[in-house]
Amino acid sequence: MMKMTETLFLLLISELYSFQLAFSHFHHVSLSRSYEEAKEYCREMYTDLATVNNLTDMADLMASVPNTTVRAWIGLEMGDAPKWHWAWPHQKLNFSNWMAGQPQGLVQNSCAAMNLLGQWFESDCKLKRSFVCQGNINDTSNYIFVGNTKSWRDAQKHCRDLSMDLVGVGSAEENVDVRNVSTSQNVWIGLFRDAWKWSDGSESSFRHWKPQQPNSANQDCVAAVFKDESRWNDLGCSSKHTFVCHGPSKVVPTGETSTQETQGVTFPSTSSSSEEIPINSTAATSTQQLCSGNLILIRKNMTWMEALGYCREHHMDLVYISDQGAQDRAAAMARNATSSHVWLGLRYTCNFNFWFWTGSAADCYQNWAPGQGLEGANGCGVTGAMEATGGQQWVGLVETRQLNFICQDCAG
Ligand SMILES: *[C@@H]1O[C@H](CO)[C@@H](O)[C@H](O)[C@H]1NC(C)=O
Ligand SMILES: *[C@@H]1O[C@H](CO)[C@@H](O)[C@H](O)[C@H]1NC(C)=O
Ligand SMILES: *[C@@H]1O[C@H](CO)[C@@H](O)[C@H](O)[C@H]1NC(C)=O
Ligand SMILES: *[C@@H]1O[C@H](CO)[C@@H](O)[C@H](O)[C@H]1NC(C)=O
Ligand SMILES: *[C@@H]1O[C@H](CO)[C@@H](O)[C@H](O)[C@H]1NC(C)=O
Ligand SMILES: *[C@@H]1O[C@H](CO)[C@@H](O)[C@H](O)[C@H]1NC(C)=O
Ligand SMILES: *[C@@H]1O[C@H](CO)[C@@H](O)[C@H](O)[C@H]1NC(C)=O
Ligand SMILES: *[C@@H]1O[C@H](CO)[C@@H](O)[C@H](O)[C@H]1NC(C)=O
Repeated sequence: MMKMTETLFLLLISELYSFQLAFSHFHHVSLSRSYEEAKEYCREMYTDLATVNNLTDMADLMASVPNTTVRAWIGLEMGDAPKWHWAWPHQKLNFSNWMAGQPQGLVQNSCAAMNLLGQWFESDCKLKRSFVCQGNINDTSNYIFVGNTKSWRDAQKHCRDLSMDLVGVGSAEENVDVRNVSTSQNVWIGLFRDAWKWSDGSESSFRHWKPQQPNSANQDCVAAVFKDESRWNDLGCSSKHTFVCHGPSKVVPTGETSTQETQGVTFPSTSSSSEEIPINSTAATSTQQLCSGNLILIRKNMTWMEALGYCREHHMDLVYISDQGAQDRAAAMARNATSSHVWLGLRYTCNFNFWFWTGSAADCYQNWAPGQGLEGANGCGVTGAMEATGGQQWVGLVETRQLNFICQDCAG
């Protein structure tokens, strides 16, 4: 009895967990891809590569990533021209108080300081200065002067550790107030210049670099490095990493229930024809067994996107075929389909010419029909299906075809 209760509890927890993941703003994709390929994938399946606005977002992003992940692309990339930004992620640059002849714009990356007269000047970010922190961008009474001298980046870290940031200045009055709390000659304010831009066009000026980063002129794309508090590093864009997308899934849940047209078959066990996840103590403890098992043929005709949405809503994903055994199990189910083919969790990215599984990073096993796969005449919106009869090999079909499909109950 105890064991059963525990099992139910575990199942409940894992359901809640996947529910949360499914609605999280961030989606880690464990395929290893170049930055541009990753961007293409995110734009196809979600909104774009991840944009990060603040440390709360960063914590959410970290939570979306398996703890074994070393680094993953986010949507920050080199833009055309450097721009000034306030450290506060969305503060407008509608007021300035530069000294005559400033800013000079001599280097790509620079920072701004305020002199005794409240005038601003461009400065090397590595110089050590006192600084002013601000607790809330809308609260101009909440300034803190810090007399210790630090580099601009270290000064920002000091402010952030106090749940503040370097001060933003929105008006002449605020400028006077900031000058007035400062007792030393020149202080850092929260103004900096860089050329990074977000893939989705967001104006967020939030940056979370590792110390000494970014550090290279030809590393134009950015990854979060999870062992270093998820701080950021600039990398060559063609290097391959997993990545984090943001935005709702473009896969629309169908909302239909599924009791009649489905056939659940558990391999190698023959017991279940139910739609429900088996409540069985081994199921909770041995994921492997559960995963090798549950494929479900859905005898309804849907487009590929609808089918993917259906599987993600009622099960885990469209079927992923990793080896001959999985192929044989899926083929046996496909023979009972009412359509000529059944959808698999296979999708083609037209701009980068590769196939990927929606539910798995791996892609070692293939079973394409002759002239299919990478040799096929694939266009955009082509997805993968298995022949229901004959050799039961894989073919590329336009995603709007209406076919039966096979779901699986666990990740690939
Ligand atoms: C962080 O940014 C997100 C938008 O990405 C916003 O919804 C949230 O309120 C922000 N949190 C804080 C603490 O500013
Ligand atoms: C990752 O998480 C799993 C369980 O959630 C845990 O068993 C494992 O020790 C963690 N690994 C690391 C490196 O933290
Ligand atoms: C700049 O914009 C902020 C709010 O976005 C506002 O509080 C401030 O008064 C504006 N300053 C000027 C000089 O328009
Ligand atoms: C600051 O005020 C603006 C408009 O007055 C508002 O949109 C924004 O959410 C406020 N930000 C914070 C952090 O309170
Ligand atoms: C500057 O701050 C002092 C106290 O720290 C205050 O007495 C004075 O009125 C302030 N001046 C301005 C112009 O705000
Ligand atoms: C759970 O399933 C396994 C095989 O899949 C079976 O041997 C075992 O008897 C089942 N346990 C219960 C409690 O149904
Ligand atoms: C196919 O359908 C028949 C009859 O409905 C059933 O007996 C058989 O188990 C099904 N095979 C598979 C692999 O689902
Ligand atoms: C699915 O479509 C095929 C034709 O492609 C049709 O023969 C079959 O009856 C349809 N199945 C269902 C369940 O509508």
